[in-house]
Amino acid sequence: MSDDRPLVGIDIGSATVKVVVAVPEPHRLVIKGCGEARHDGARKGIITNLEEVVGAVRVATEEAEAMASIPVVRAAVALGGAPVLGKPSCASTPITGRNFTVSADDVSLALSRCAGVMIPEDYKVLDIIPCGFALDGQPGIENPEGMAGRTIEASAYVLFTPRAHVDSLEQTVNQASVAVTDFLYEPLAAAEAVLSPDEMELGCMLIDIGHATSEWVLWSEGTVLASGTYPIGGRHFVADVATVMKTDTAGAELIKRSVGVSLDRQDLDLLGIEVPTLGGHGNQIANGRLAAQILYERAHELFVGIARNLSEMEMDRIPRAGIILTGGGARLEGMDGVAETIFAHHARIGLPRNLAGDVEPVAGPEWAVACGLIRLAHQRKQKPFARKRQESGILNRLRSALGEIFELGGGNDLHR
Ligand SMILES: Nc1ncnc2c1ncn2[C@@H]1O[C@H](COP(=O)(O)OP(=O)(O)OP(=O)(O)O)[C@@H](O)[C@H]1O
Ligand SMILES: [Mg+2]
Repeated sequence: MSDDRPLVGIDIGSATVKVVVAVPEPHRLVIKGCGEARHDGARKGIITNLEEVVGAVRVATEEAEAMASIPVVRAAVALGGAPVLGKPSCASTPITGRNFTVSADDVSLALSRCAGVMIPEDYKVLDIIPCGFALDGQPGIENPEGMAGRTIEASAYVLFTPRAHVDSLEQTVNQASVAVTDFLYEPLAAAEAVLSPDEMELGCMLIDIGHATSEWVLWSEGTVLASGTYPIGGRHFVADVATVMKTDTAGAELIKRSVGVSLDRQDLDLLGIEVPTLGGHGNQIANGRLAAQILYERAHELFVGIARNLSEMEMDRIPRAGIILTGGGARLEGMDGVAETIFAHHARIGLPRNLAGDVEPVAGPEWAVACGLIRLAHQRKQKPFARKRQESGILNRLRSALGEIFELGGGNDLHR
């Protein structure tokens, strides 16, 4: 079924709300508008001041609507932060189709059972990412539909989150007069925006460095192996600089953006940034090398922490195609270099790719989640330019079917 209604992605981050409006055309998405609004109503990915975040969603949405000349009535919304948990799982079910041929319902049921065994009470399934199937114990099957067998076993990566987290995000978006069509996991959306199918296939790790937290997702053989949240984001870099250099938040932000985390920068000793001194004692000249050292320590802590998570899972060899950094924190000069040192894999900054139209305002790494939302939401409506492993469309159809089973996303408006 073809659906060329506008696509809208809303990324409610800890520092800003970002909205992207696009129109699907054959084989591409055309960006029509975007909007951004700062807010101070969330902590660690959790909304702490509803009114303030609703206001930011309204402002960003109206800006995007005005630029696109398209009214925003429904949107795919990103969900992330510490409350989202992910686990690999597998489950089996007898094949009930005629002549023991695997039907779409058999596949959906096997996948839904992957989630059923492990969801704590008060949690809601956010996504079920199919990883592969086995028929009568024979593994390695990507699309079992139509094949013959007695038992189907599905393996999947299941994401789940507290119901209250989903409900409060939905309430926020609804109060800004927008209905939620899908809730999608933030780093998964970012991955969809910036990764190539080869990177997903060969194995890579995307790290979205936001304001409050950093979310990561590990890909291999075209699917998700692991994901997590690390409690360091851009605001920690700023807080460190403000504390050590005795300046205010705006001053520390200026230092952060001017200096970066690279200790090899030639001009570090010559760099002096004029910023206010705390307590209203006039201005001071912040030393570039000292600032870089402070910022480097945080970057080091962030990447070492995530690398430790990977190594605990014995997955440190997987990101063969490298580390891809998104989020506003990826703009910090030299972050890719520090990541390369810690992970011993190539690192690059991930920018939204394969978009047409008004792409310039959404070209930065901080727009990856919002741009990925529209692509992922579009893929799930079975459009033909899904990523390589999804060309058959089966994974998308399965997700749609599972969405209905598990009431993923925004209630009545889901998957419209
Ligand atoms: N040019 C820059 N140099 C360094 N840092 C930057 C730059 N631009 C933005 N940032 C940082 O990026 C962070 C915001 O990134 P982003 O917009 O991805 O966060 P968010 O999505 O609002 O937060 P989260 O993902 O944690 O919920 C801020 O901490 C900001 O200081
Ligand atoms: Mg973010």
